[in-house]
Amino acid sequence: MREKELTTRQKYVDSLYAPEDSGLMAIRERLVSANRWGVNIGANEGKILQILMKLTKASQVVEIGTLFGYSGVWIARVLPAEGRLFTIERDHDCVRMAKKAFQECGVADRVTLIEGDALDALKDLEGPFDLVFIDANKQAYPQYLEWAAANVRRGGLIVADNTLLGGHVAVDEKPEQLSRAQYANMRAFNEAIARDERFFGTIFPTDEGLTVAIRQ
Ligand SMILES: C[S@@+](CC[C@H](N)C(=O)[O-])C[C@H]1O[C@@H](n2cnc3c(N)ncnc32)[C@H](O)[C@@H]1O
Repeated sequence: MREKELTTRQKYVDSLYAPEDSGLMAIRERLVSANRWGVNIGANEGKILQILMKLTKASQVVEIGTLFGYSGVWIARVLPAEGRLFTIERDHDCVRMAKKAFQECGVADRVTLIEGDALDALKDLEGPFDLVFIDANKQAYPQYLEWAAANVRRGGLIVADNTLLGGHVAVDEKPEQLSRAQYANMRAFNEAIARDERFFGTIFPTDEGLTVAIRQ
């Protein structure tokens, strides 16, 4: 979870490069009301996703973890005309909120919102996809990575949020704040990105850690 109060530096960058329009602000307000603001990506991370999509000419995108649709709107807005975002969410209230957001932001026709557990839903999604954005339950990141390795085209991207787990993943002993599975599986995910020759990536040192890896 991100720090809720943005630093002066973050505010400067967001207002200059990633200003929110009324659609994104409405999602922000609903997240704040539900006390879930900060579970979503930040505005500038939305812009980073858009840049990565443009660089790779991403058209078919999968997102694992929709929440209220904040990151999904950033993604859907730079899809080309024939593009599609498949986004997966298991929580029914989140699905309801995301559906509303996609409609209000005018991107519903480009988004397939799938309600269910991601590991089940992914079985029905077959690549090649251009980009996969992993942003759901941390202990399943290695399984999401295996799915991505099989379903992202060569030269496509695997992007994953929270891969520093607030910095806790960087220490050699499991910190109290994390479950054994969260700590061990995120370490395994990061090591796979570093050592497995199917991937060429790193962690962009945002507050939470944003992994960007090419499927080679
Ligand atoms: C970090 S939030 C996603 C934030 C969103 N990508 C954004 O930036 O606006 C993680 C979401 O994943 C969902 N989630 C967690 N485990 C899941 C699972 N196994 N299958 C599907 N969704 C899951 C949660 O309900 C939550 O809404």
